[in-house]
Amino acid sequence: MALPSLRVRAHGAVEIMDSPFCDPAMLTRTYQDFRVVNALVSGWWGIYRRSIRPDLSTTTEMTLLDVGSGGGDVSRALARWAMRDGLRLAVTGIDPDARAHVFATSQPKIAGLSFRRALSSDLVAEGARFDFVVSNHVLHHLSVAELKGLLVDSEDLVRRRVLHADLERSNHAYLGFAAATTPFFRHSYIRPDGLTSIRRSYTATELRAVVPAGWTVSRGLPSRLVLGWTPPDA
Ligand SMILES: C[S@@+](CC[C@H](N)C(=O)[O-])C[C@H]1O[C@@H](n2cnc3c(N)ncnc32)[C@H](O)[C@@H]1O
Repeated sequence: MALPSLRVRAHGAVEIMDSPFCDPAMLTRTYQDFRVVNALVSGWWGIYRRSIRPDLSTTTEMTLLDVGSGGGDVSRALARWAMRDGLRLAVTGIDPDARAHVFATSQPKIAGLSFRRALSSDLVAEGARFDFVVSNHVLHHLSVAELKGLLVDSEDLVRRRVLHADLERSNHAYLGFAAATTPFFRHSYIRPDGLTSIRRSYTATELRAVVPAGWTVSRGLPSRLVLGWTPPDA
């Protein structure tokens, strides 16, 4: 397989699942497969343990907003982990895409978990606030202007901590994902869209250069970035 140049962000590259005309059955399997891919590579168990769980309580309910929740598996995992730990966490997943909303709401119900078809800016307009604002694999989807808009929305929406997790672009990430997925995911868009996502994603240096002061970028494995912000008065 030819390795495309990953020197600069391929911000014009389009993921198949973003097309309104993509195959509905392939798209449903893509949402299903995200559960496996996110569990293997997205690192949310570690983020939950280090940066969310320590603030949760058995008595006082905390709230968490998952922006761009897609098929909803990260929202579901966070709600399930908190419940298993006996901690009170209400999770809201939002996504403007009707197809994602239909898939997310068709899955088995979990206490304290809900999904809405909405943009982060809609919640800002409502004056909503959450203890945590998180996202997974959303940053690379956005133009730089949209990214800055999401960060302004996140600052408006959060009380305690923002955590936006994404891929980090590198030859290593591209070749590793290509090799690991070669025999799998033939009936979904996971492999082609995953490779496009890596081409669209930021390096840590690039992300640090575009985010406002006060935001931090930390690197993790495998090829992960977490963009974080804590309100000064938190
Ligand atoms: C690649 S998907 C990630 C889905 C899911 N978080 C996951 O990890 O499987 C990115 C999603 O972000 C949504 N999105 C983009 N901008 C958004 C915004 N400002 N507010 C809410 N959702 C947004 C898109 O509709 C898309 O479904």
